Amino acid sequence: MMRGMNSASVDLIYLDPPFNSNHDYAAPIGSVAAGAEFKDTWGLDDVKVVWHGEIKHEYPGLYALLTATREIHGDSMMAYLIYMGIRLIEMRRVLAAEGTIYLHCNQYAGHYLKLLLDAVFGRRNFVTEIIWNYGTPSGGRTSGKKPVKTHDVLLAYAAGYGDHLYTPQFTPYSENYTFRWFRHTDEDGRRYQTRSRKGRIVRQYLDESPGMPLSTVWSDVMQLSSRRGWFPSTRKEEVGYPTQKPLALVRRVIDASAPEGGIVLDPFCGCATACIAAEQRGRRWVGIDISPKAADPVRVRMRNELGLFYAGAHRTDIPARTDLGKVPAYNCAENRRYLYGEQGGYCNGCEEHFPPRNFTVDHIVPRAKGGTDHISNLQLLCGACNSAKGTKTQEELLVLLTDKGWIKRKKAA
Ligand SMILES: C[S@@+](CC[C@H](N)C(=O)[O-])C[C@H]1O[C@@H](n2cnc3c(N)ncnc32)[C@H](O)[C@@H]1O
Repeated sequence: MMRGMNSASVDLIYLDPPFNSNHDYAAPIGSVAAGAEFKDTWGLDDVKVVWHGEIKHEYPGLYALLTATREIHGDSMMAYLIYMGIRLIEMRRVLAAEGTIYLHCNQYAGHYLKLLLDAVFGRRNFVTEIIWNYGTPSGGRTSGKKPVKTHDVLLAYAAGYGDHLYTPQFTPYSENYTFRWFRHTDEDGRRYQTRSRKGRIVRQYLDESPGMPLSTVWSDVMQLSSRRGWFPSTRKEEVGYPTQKPLALVRRVIDASAPEGGIVLDPFCGCATACIAAEQRGRRWVGIDISPKAADPVRVRMRNELGLFYAGAHRTDIPARTDLGKVPAYNCAENRRYLYGEQGGYCNGCEEHFPPRNFTVDHIVPRAKGGTDHISNLQLLCGACNSAKGTKTQEELLVLLTDKGWIKRKKAA
């Protein structure tokens, strides 16, 4: 889906992907989200051969990192990081110059994901790490010989640090803080503290103060319960989705980092929390989820929580990019001439030499998988290799041709 989105087209990305938790999740029968499920257990069979190739060719540093992860943490973590890496590369492309990405993760894979973000977004574009302290260490959470886990992590990276949008946020002062600092009361009963500004003592009134500047530890947003209605204060927004995040959490991210009317993308939107939060805050939104059931909670929540009778379009086809300028017909004579020269007359499949008339123009990433007609996505294949490829990706074709023994000459060697 993201391959069909224009470059630099979204202002904020919030993603809450599977965490590599080694669990599988399903929404309870009877809930709004019933039928939605996803697995969060990983093996190398879960990632496509082509993803290895794409990362290896275009981000060799990232690939080295993935290979090292396999040494340290085994196949499962490497598979998970390939799956995340290939998507983060696309997120980097679709994020606008002033944009920020917030990756929601936890201690299972957070440290590896930070390295992945360093590799894809650039370590200089690291903005901050937020600790979301979502609950209290009640006895029920205790497991193992370690302190009780009560936090997730949000890693924030800018498309370009310094150019990114940040609107300062504030939280209410605690009673303890106002008691300690706003100690004085004037003749009208207004509380204030005194501050020294340019050598003068001035009053800062409590009722004129914006609150505490937002810190990197967020303890004022409680997690939701997967048992619907368990917490009365959040009952209205709970739809029974097992990994549903609170609206207040995502609203804060949006308030801080998305411009008014800007576009928020959540590429793992689950039961649509980011879509609802964006709608509430007057931003446009795009939500993507692999589960066909994900569209139902969007509809239900838009109606129940916002009184809107479906404020979006649900599509399952891959969108077509419109930002590549006027692209000529992919098999035009000009493209053929150019590609023949580039490839030196060799087929990009079997690597045999042919005259121009024996070649067909092929989409490296097939159109059916979001590939474009742009010259950067085209190559020449001989007739036999083109039929063998069909809608396969290039790496899948190469595996097939190697298995069949059709690749005789290694051009790269
Ligand atoms: C942790 S949940 C997101 C929960 C969401 N933040 C919410 O509040 O409802 C992760 C979601 O990622 C989806 N998912 C898993 N693999 C995916 C993929 N390859 N592409 C898109 N979505 C995927 C799952 O279906 C699941 O809904």
